[in-house]
Amino acid sequence: MLQDRIKQYTEEIEQITLLSAADVENYRLKFLVSKGVVKGLFEEFKTVSSEEKRVLGKVLNEFKQLAENKYQEAQELFGKSNTNTVKLEEGDLTLPGEGFQLGSRHPLSLVRKEIVEIFKKLGFVVAEGPEIEDDWHNFSALNFPPEHPARDMQDTFFIKKQDGNDIALRTHTSSVQVRLMEAGKPPFRAIMPGRVYRNEAISARAHCFFHQVEGLYVDEDVSFADLKQTLFHFVQELYGEGTKVRFRPSYFPFTEPSAEMDISCTICKGQGCQLCKGSGWVEILGCGMVDPNVLENCGIDSKKYSGFAFGMGIERITNLKYEIKDLRLFSENDVRFLSQFETEII
Ligand code: PHE
Repeated sequence: MLQDRIKQYTEEIEQITLLSAADVENYRLKFLVSKGVVKGLFEEFKTVSSEEKRVLGKVLNEFKQLAENKYQEAQELFGKSNTNTVKLEEGDLTLPGEGFQLGSRHPLSLVRKEIVEIFKKLGFVVAEGPEIEDDWHNFSALNFPPEHPARDMQDTFFIKKQDGNDIALRTHTSSVQVRLMEAGKPPFRAIMPGRVYRNEAISARAHCFFHQVEGLYVDEDVSFADLKQTLFHFVQELYGEGTKVRFRPSYFPFTEPSAEMDISCTICKGQGCQLCKGSGWVEILGCGMVDPNVLENCGIDSKKYSGFAFGMGIERITNLKYEIKDLRLFSENDVRFLSQFETEII
């Protein structure tokens, strides 16, 4: 009976909840298209007696209204005119996109890279060693006498092991020289960047860790002149043509003779300023001829081979390049500081 079916569909529609655009579409396909329920009932309506038509005409029209209203309401919530696609279309596609922030390289990484590149062009290879070292590699093999103050607890972070053998955080990258020479045969020509640790109170001028780059060149007939020329070239490359260098005699247990190298102040160009304390010179590294004892400790014939070594602090080189006055800035990770350095996309 038509009347029963109208009643049945009315109940169905009243019970349906449309929760998504897909629900709305399925509803439309079932009830409202030309082969759908509403049209079907109207077709059937044509076939009933005029007696019934009088009663059912009104009922059927009310049903149609109900079916369409339900669709309209749902359409407003989930229908096509409300989807994301249309929202996008409403946006102005000619507007510039939102920028995204690129990170930047840490100044110490930039400078380390620059130093390494200069030496690579001279035929030096990069070598690395562990930050946790034993006494032999950090001190003994490097000819430190047993009572040397650098071994003191004040300077070195020692860790007592249960077997009685102390280990330490390396205090300099010279330990990598030893590892390199022990592991191979001359010639050696290596550049060794790395982090080192010293037991110091943290201030603007000192930190408990910092970074060094070590250099080592061992072969037959290597002389102090080779050392001077290599470092002179390095300084011209890093700080520019015309930067002056001078060597002052110094002492390190592992080099003999030893020297400290100064360069003409990069800020005042030798005129005298706060940075160079009016002297026109700033110290940038320690160097010297590898002590024959060190070569022998590493199993290298010191009669046949000689070599030079140098070591510099990356923080110091960076300070001179960028005029950074407080060492702590390097490890605070303040983006306002870090974002001032060249951005590279690699
Ligand atoms: N290791 C020394 C230091 O930390 C630097 C150095 C390296 C000096 C190599 C001479 C030769 O101060």
